[in-house]
Amino acid sequence: MSTGRKALIGLAVLVLGIQLVPVPRENPPVVAPVSVPDDVQTVLENSCYDCHSNLTEWPWYSRVAPASWLVYRDVKKGRDELNFSEWGDYSERRRNRKLEEVEELVTDKKMPLKIYLPLHPEARLSVADMETLIDWSRSARASGESPPAE
Ligand code: HEC
Repeated sequence: MSTGRKALIGLAVLVLGIQLVPVPRENPPVVAPVSVPDDVQTVLENSCYDCHSNLTEWPWYSRVAPASWLVYRDVKKGRDELNFSEWGDYSERRRNRKLEEVEELVTDKKMPLKIYLPLHPEARLSVADMETLIDWSRSARASGESPPAE
């Protein structure tokens, strides 16, 4: 067999082999979802829920390694940092900190993650979407529900 053919077979075996690494694409139950006005909810669902909730819509490429590993990593890290399906179980202090982060990262256009946008163009925040999230962040911190952190 030629070296080229051996290399191709080797590559095929590798590509098939990595498919066997299990990737847990799980959506745990929604225990304590965030409760927000409809306009805020719509933006969160369109642009944030895939990584920051237990209602992730796992795309087809999340079934194919190595893309699956990258998707899984972002969802895992995203949920660990901020999970709108567990929001109600956060302490007031934690909610306030997360709200501040939302304002900061949205203002700086750091969220949604850049890598996510080419395949989810509908998740890109318009100026109006950004204002919706920033206004929500501020008013939730200012209200008695979630007073500003001391
Ligand atoms: C493709 C996945 C993905 C999407 C979509 C996404 N995020 Fe994130 N987000 C992450 C990851 C991963 C982190 C962890 C930090 C990092 O790796 O940059 C994070 C971190 C954050 C943090 C920081 C939490 C902390 O305390 O440090 C905030 C706030 C945040 N995201 C808000 C949002 C908002 C608001 C949206 C929607 C407008 C959004 N994210 C969309 C993946 C995502």
